[in-house]
Amino acid sequence: MTAYTKTSALMARGCEFLGTETAILCGAMSWVSERNLVSAISNAGGFGVIACGAMTPELLDTEIAATKALTSKPFGVNLITMHPMLFDLIDVCAKHGVTHVVLAGGIPPKGSVEAIKANGAKVICFAPTLALGKKLLRSGADALVIEGSEAGGHIGPVSTSVLAQEILPSLAADNLVFVAGGIGRGEAIAGYLEMGAAGVQLGTRFACASESIAHEAFKKAFFRASARDAVASVQVDPRLPVIPVRALKNKGTEEFTAKQIEVARLLDAGEVDMGEAQLKIEHFWAGALRRAVIDGDVESGSIMAGQSVGMVGKEEPVAEIIAALMAESEAALTNRGAVAA
Ligand SMILES: Cc1cc2nc3c(=O)[nH]c(=O)nc-3n(C[C@H](O)[C@H](O)[C@H](O)COP(=O)(O)O)c2cc1C
Repeated sequence: MTAYTKTSALMARGCEFLGTETAILCGAMSWVSERNLVSAISNAGGFGVIACGAMTPELLDTEIAATKALTSKPFGVNLITMHPMLFDLIDVCAKHGVTHVVLAGGIPPKGSVEAIKANGAKVICFAPTLALGKKLLRSGADALVIEGSEAGGHIGPVSTSVLAQEILPSLAADNLVFVAGGIGRGEAIAGYLEMGAAGVQLGTRFACASESIAHEAFKKAFFRASARDAVASVQVDPRLPVIPVRALKNKGTEEFTAKQIEVARLLDAGEVDMGEAQLKIEHFWAGALRRAVIDGDVESGSIMAGQSVGMVGKEEPVAEIIAALMAESEAALTNRGAVAA
């Protein structure tokens, strides 16, 4: 690999932790982050992460084995904390000697961090606030991801730039913090590394790589879209808290509004409780994302995408994307040096 001296120096801690050449993670994307994309990312010097999503332990078992057949480099597995079989999924990761488990979708349930670490794996958690980040580190998380609202998929309310300013100065010197959300080019990577990040996580920029199995229609929708097309879903009923999802605007966006009204009615009628209501909403997303990614239904499916989608213009091999990001970061850091001199 070309020498990216300044960027590599700033990424050194992250690379050591991940066991990679670059501290660039491709965040898990349900249906997209399967064996092909994950192995391609890891083979190209990044860190691929399998999206377990709603998979059963049997399906995850198959996916990990298939990924291992395609790469000898390290990769991670992203598990959703509310998965009813979380602990069985952790066992599957242990069986395969998965080195890094990412816990997404909320505060890790009691015993889950310990169970992963007992198997010798590292745990990466999402930190939505500084206070929760500190708590997660105290509870045993080995690294944190902070993800701003520019990201694709389920999002929090605060932008990446603000989260980075709130969290990096306090935690990044002594802990490993990876920054995600809205990163489309290497100049932004350079900026977050200079603020103390150990590395970065991107999703949108990799979703349409040549190695991604996403349907051609899904990829075309990405290539056509600009930042303003990637909108956050709106909560319709104040009693039904719905985690917003950022996706490209289409008929599916409207159907989601209708779905929320339908679920709120069931809640009113006492036919479902709050937990069931929220699960119905999550199932809606999982189904809609599958329709877009796998079946290519970009009308009513959910084309989850971050605001950096405007910087995704064509299908490129993962290795080229990573090389471009590293070169852009290196040029930015070199130019800063020139100004200082
Ligand atoms: C299509 C799509 C699906 C995603 N699915 C998941 C998921 O299943 N689990 C998860 O933790 N994050 C998911 N994400 C978030 C990504 O892992 C990553 O953190 C995010 O894309 C980074 O921000 P960016 O999109 O601005 O690059 C998804 C993102 C996209 C675009």
